[in-house]
Order: sequence, then C-alpha cells, then structure tokens
Amino acid sequence: MNLQFSHRISSLQPSAIREILKVTQDPSVISFAAGNPSPETFPVADMSKIAEDIFTNHSATALQYGVSEGYAPLRELTFNRIKTKYGIGKDFDDLIITSGGQQAIELATKLLVNEGDTILCESPSFVGSLNAFRSYKANLVGVPMDRDGMDMNALEEALKTQPNVKLIYTIPTFQNPSGCTLSIERRRRMLELAEQYDVLILEDNPYFELRYSGEYVPPIKSMDENGRVIYAGSYSKVLSPGIRVGFACAHRNIISKMTVCKQVSDVHTNLFFQMLCAKYLETCDIDAHIETIRKLYSHRMNVMTDAMDAGFAGRATYIKPDGGLFIWCTLPEGSNGMDFCRICGNMKVAAVPGASFSVDESEIVPTFRLNFSLADDDTIRRGIALMSQALDEYLK
Ligand SMILES: Cc1ncc(COP(=O)(O)O)c(C=O)c1O
Repeated sequence: MNLQFSHRISSLQPSAIREILKVTQDPSVISFAAGNPSPETFPVADMSKIAEDIFTNHSATALQYGVSEGYAPLRELTFNRIKTKYGIGKDFDDLIITSGGQQAIELATKLLVNEGDTILCESPSFVGSLNAFRSYKANLVGVPMDRDGMDMNALEEALKTQPNVKLIYTIPTFQNPSGCTLSIERRRRMLELAEQYDVLILEDNPYFELRYSGEYVPPIKSMDENGRVIYAGSYSKVLSPGIRVGFACAHRNIISKMTVCKQVSDVHTNLFFQMLCAKYLETCDIDAHIETIRKLYSHRMNVMTDAMDAGFAGRATYIKPDGGLFIWCTLPEGSNGMDFCRICGNMKVAAVPGASFSVDESEIVPTFRLNFSLADDDTIRRGIALMSQALDEYLK
C-alpha cells in the first residue's frame, strides 16, 4: 500500500538521533538522555490515599465525561496558586487544564500559526515543541542564546526581517536543553519587542520551581499587562509526568478558542488525574514537596558536575545551571556531538547530541545534553566515568 501522509506530518522524519538513542532501550546502558523526573519524587503514598477516596466517594464524577476547559476545582486551585505565589494572571486572563504542558504548546500553535508563519525560538530548543511547530509547517527560526538566554538584538533583527512572525517561543527558566535562564532585563525587553512588533510570546516554564541556586526571576507572564503572553505550565516535574496534567494561562479570548481546539483534540484531560491533582493541592503541601525535590536534584547535579570535573578534566566544558534537570556540555571546537554520543552509546552510556535541539537537525554542533535527575549517585559516577573514557576515545 502506498501510504500518503499529510504534508504537515511528512516533514517529521525518524532521525539519526533517534537511532543513537535506541541504545537507551538496553537496560545495561546508563542513560543520561531522558528528561524524566526521578520516581522517588512521586508522592505515591498521598496519591494512593487520594485515589482511593476518589474511587470510593466520587467515582461518578471521575469516570464520567468532563468539560474541555478542565475540572473546575483544579482550574481554580491552579490559578490561585500561580497568581498569589508568582503574580501570573490578570483580570483579563483565564486558565485551561491541558494534557501536559506539551498540549498547551500544541494548542497554541494550532490556534495561531498558519502554514509558513514564523515562530522565533531559542537555538537550541525543546524538541517536543519544535516538532509541534513543524507539524503545523511553521517557518522555524532559531535565535542565538548565551548564559542569559535569548539574544535580544538577534531577536529584534529576526522580528524585523522574518515574514509573518506569530510567536516568540521561549523556555525562560532553566531552559531545556541549555539550562540557561533569561535575565530579568531581557524578559522586560522581550515583552517590549513583542508589543512593538505586535506578536505573542509563548512562555513555556515547566522547570521554574526547581531552583537550586541564584535569585528568583519572575515569569514573563507576571509582567504582562496587555495579554501578550501565553503561559504554559505543568505538574509533570513537580508531581508526576504520567498524570499528564498541565495548563495554559492567557487572555480569556485565547483560552476560549483553545478550549474549542482541545475539544477537538481529546475532549478533556483525564478527569481522574485532574481530580487527584486538585485534591493533592487542597490537602497536601506541594511547596514542601517541591523543596524535597529541589534538595535531591541539586545534590545529584553536584555529584554529576564533581564527576565531570574529575573525568572530563576540561576537555568538554559545561554550563552549571541554577535549576532544572539538564547540563549542557560542549566538546572542543570542530567536534561533532553526534559522533561523540555514538561512541558513548557503544560504551553503554547515553547522552543526547546537541543537534537534536537545533531547528536544523542536520547541523553539526559540538554539544550534548546530560540529565541528572534520574540516576542515583553511584550510577551517575559510573556513567560519567564511562563518558570520560568515551571522551578519551573520541579525542584520540
Ligand atoms: C521545555 C519543555 N516544555 C514542555 C514539556 C512538556 O512537558 P509535559 O507535557 O510533561 O508537561 C517539557 C518536557 O520535558 C519540556 O522540557
């Protein structure tokens, strides 16, 4: 049969990178490739008590259809929390519960981007979003970044020169993959530029509560006086990714349109897990829980960077982030991160080559990404020792 996939989807190809990452299916491989939270951080005991209560006392609601904008108590609890704690959400804003932050990104794209419209994003950026943008045939343009996030001069230049810019997509805090955080000055400037060039900002902020050092930087959405920012949030990294509960907070006109799009996509987010999440927020202390996650990840990050200092010995450099789940590493100039990750795979340790986060995946870049949240101390040390041997081999 001659399968004819849609034009939208046909550009999404299995890539060389996915081939490299196949090694992670081998249980003897130590993987720093995934971005998974540690299962130790899942609040299983609390969730199991709540789950029992839902099935015993509220099964008729949990197992029935719900509304597309989300379970009302969860919407309210989420909105109250982000508003009182972080100043996100003005009177003109509304909030929809989505199936993870990923769906908030996909729905925002569906809502706003016509084929050929431009989306400006950090270079490098999160592959899940890049693929969502690709699936709508957006003109994806990467804007260079440094330790303080996206370069605002380069952003302005792109706004001036690119056709039909619809969105500036940013992961401003502990960015995936670079770990970098957009400075407060640049956040203000990004908002100014969005106003000046009349485009929207899609602020994807799933890691911002996982800070281990440095000063708090307020979300761009908290400075948004005119409804310029669509904010995508998630419970994946602070409760569990398997529950698939995220949200979007934006001007009510955007949220109402998004609700229609969501109805078309999946009717509503799994109601049982929305209820579980709501009850968790109501009866447990999520902030105390996040504090325990921070301690664990901050410790693991230090174990990894200590091991890298010893094993890499400056041959690969890295940026130590103030939070999040990732360390971004750079090989000597002229190196190819893809070749290095292939050698790592042969040595039974996995990292993600930097090219997978590029707008153009065929680009040769000397970078790779490591995750430190999942493995325990001993595994981290063994994995970095193997990677150091891979470095010997690659640089030989
Ligand atoms: C930058 C970024 N945005 C969004 C997501 C989507 O997360 P979820 O759909 O689990 O909320 C991820 C997941 O890793 C991510 O790294």
